[in-house]
Amino acid sequence: MKARIISTGYYLPERILTNKDLEKMVDTTEEWITQRTGILERRIASENEATSDMGSAAGAAALEKAGVSPGDVDTVICATITPDHLFPSTACLIQKKLKLSNAFAYDISAACSGFLYSLASAESLLKSGAAETVLVVAAEKMSSITDWKDRSTCVLFGDGAGAALLKRDDSGRGILSTYMKSDGNMGDLLIVPAGGSRMPASEKTVAGRLHYLRMQGNEVFKVAVRNMLESAQAVAEEAGIHSDEINLVIPHQANLRIIDAIAKRLKLGKDQVYVNLDRTGNTSAASIAISLAEADSQSILKEGDNIILVSFGAGFTWAGVALQW
Ligand code: ACO
Repeated sequence: MKARIISTGYYLPERILTNKDLEKMVDTTEEWITQRTGILERRIASENEATSDMGSAAGAAALEKAGVSPGDVDTVICATITPDHLFPSTACLIQKKLKLSNAFAYDISAACSGFLYSLASAESLLKSGAAETVLVVAAEKMSSITDWKDRSTCVLFGDGAGAALLKRDDSGRGILSTYMKSDGNMGDLLIVPAGGSRMPASEKTVAGRLHYLRMQGNEVFKVAVRNMLESAQAVAEEAGIHSDEINLVIPHQANLRIIDAIAKRLKLGKDQVYVNLDRTGNTSAASIAISLAEADSQSILKEGDNIILVSFGAGFTWAGVALQW
């Protein structure tokens, strides 16, 4: 018995922010952003659009595609680091919006690894019999914690949401293996300093721009490559998938140079690695969820395909999921 993704959905806000647009906002160039990151444009949510709105749109699409009625969902997990509020959880807000009246709901905070941590949680709940139908949503409004005066971070992020609906399945298809790791020792390299109990909001924190994301990008870069490779290799090995049997790797979409480095070490061809960060930027937890749903909607994923999902994010957190589609 396995936990299987029976449908997916995604949502991207309408507004497109291009690298040319960013040239007018900070001291940067279209060329620097393209060459250093691979990002050409990203989507930015409107002022009235919160994380739960985008998450609900993605979740609704997944439910509709599967033909599952809202009352049949018994668990909602939302992966996000940009919740609508400190509490209630964004998962509870999505539950309300989608009328998932028979579900219990909670958030997972694992930054860019949030979607994979959530899939692993869903798998455990389904395998233990504690849940029958789990809606996993990964949604981020990264623009709400982006410092639009910091050229080293504001060019990287975008907004959006992806969702996956999971059920138990005895066909042999589904999640084959999962791998989750964290290292809190390096948490300061990627952090929103204020707004929590350590540094509650005050005039000083607002003036110091401490409610925005801060990142030592080049330090994060090195660890990201190493740990994403470790995750991919661990899940493939546990699932018994040899590198020449991998149909598609969907990596966290942070930087094309990170993705290329992983692809090279795993000896993967261009068509074996899914990339959309040129259009989306880094949407943190939502990144792999959007990519998976896009690939699904484009029929890139074929029944029986071996797919490896791999992530790295703040915390630090990193994870892998191997699945047979
Ligand atoms: N435009 C022009 N120049 C810039 C810009 C910009 N937008 N940003 C930085 N620079 C400059 C820097 O000031 C520096 O100049 P200097 O050499 O004169 O000091 C130079 O470019 C190089 O800066 P680096 O930070 O060393 O650039 P790097 O090649 O490392 O690229 C980047 C930066 C894109 C952030 C990269 O390090 C990266 O992708 N890191 C990993 C990000 C990641 O994976 N994060 C984890 C997930 S995110 C999450 O969890 C929320």
